[in-house]
Amino acid sequence: QSLRIGLIPADGIGKEVIPAARAAIEALGSDIPKPQFVDLVAGWETFTRTGVALPQDTVDVLRNECDCALFGSVSSPSRKVVGYSSPIVALRKELDLYANIRPVVSVSAEVGQKASVDLIVVRENTECLYVKQEQLTDGPNGKEARATRLITEHASRRIGQMAFKLANARPRKHLTIIHKSNVLSVTDGLFRETVRSVPTLPGVDGKYDGVTIAEQLVDSAVYRLFREPEIFDVMVAPNLYGDIISDAAAALVGSLGLIPSINAGDSFVMGEPVHGSAPDIEGKGIANPLASIRSAALMLRHLGYTKGADRLDTAVDQVIREGKTLTPDLKGTSTTTEVLEAVLKKI
Ligand code: NAI
Ligand code: MG
Repeated sequence: QSLRIGLIPADGIGKEVIPAARAAIEALGSDIPKPQFVDLVAGWETFTRTGVALPQDTVDVLRNECDCALFGSVSSPSRKVVGYSSPIVALRKELDLYANIRPVVSVSAEVGQKASVDLIVVRENTECLYVKQEQLTDGPNGKEARATRLITEHASRRIGQMAFKLANARPRKHLTIIHKSNVLSVTDGLFRETVRSVPTLPGVDGKYDGVTIAEQLVDSAVYRLFREPEIFDVMVAPNLYGDIISDAAAALVGSLGLIPSINAGDSFVMGEPVHGSAPDIEGKGIANPLASIRSAALMLRHLGYTKGADRLDTAVDQVIREGKTLTPDLKGTSTTTEVLEAVLKKI
């Protein structure tokens, strides 16, 4: 039996950190089924070469031939480019990876991590403003741009169920719902009420009685995240707020280069570092590979390979704690390869 893992490094530092994650998985030996890697393409470079950012073949191979996947990062342009659309946003929808789970944990104050950060951002991954229905029209006073923000009961319920399940499995069992329903009472109101109603769903039968529920408006949530991160355990949020909050939370632990995620659906899981393609450091060999290695761990854990996942996480934590082999984002002087070597040694 083997574990078939699709690899989509995509653009920029994705090409530098995904091979590191692959090497870390290979080092696990018999703790996981023999991994078989399938190289796949997507991204801006693929688009400029072929005119398509997410080739149908990539989607088909993931769907039909892979058990899971690792995605690097894409360099999406900030201007509108005809025919281009972010492949990661599309992949999440194509494979119905409705939950984006992003743990942020501090392990060492020595490397500039704020103490006692131990939280998970659970981000809805398929709708909100990321349905990308935008229109530009001419109004009486110039151009007018509109975007549709879609919040459905269905998607809010399943992300709520995922958040309750995760919260219930943690020692503190505390869930904070992030919204802005004081202003957006219809869309965020539906999100808030639907998540709140999860414990009353048929079949739940008091399973979540031990979970305490809090709410925080998204703006003050960011404020409190910086002042008193320890109040948060599991945070559940609509797509855009979850995107912003998880990058903010990354600052608490010193670098985006440390934060992993998985995109999870009912039948597929894709690990992905939270960071982007980091054009400012691309090609320099100094990208932090730890977010990607942790994403591999998270993916393996989701698939039930706890021992392999624990070994990856422990190795990463040890390297951070020792503080000797770190990339420049953590004020170190090591390269991607040196950090990978240090992790491999610990594994
Ligand atoms: P970014 O995450 O690429 O970079 C933000 C800052 O963090 C930069 O200073 C970068 O050097 C640093 N950083 C990020 N990852 C790092 C790592 N592993 N090691 C060391 N330093 C790291 O975000 P930015 O600059 O806003 O976006 C750049 C591009 O990435 C854009 O084209 C954007 O569309 C894309 N992007 C793609 C994502 C994805 O593929 N899921 C997510 C976020 C952005
Ligand atoms: Mg982001």
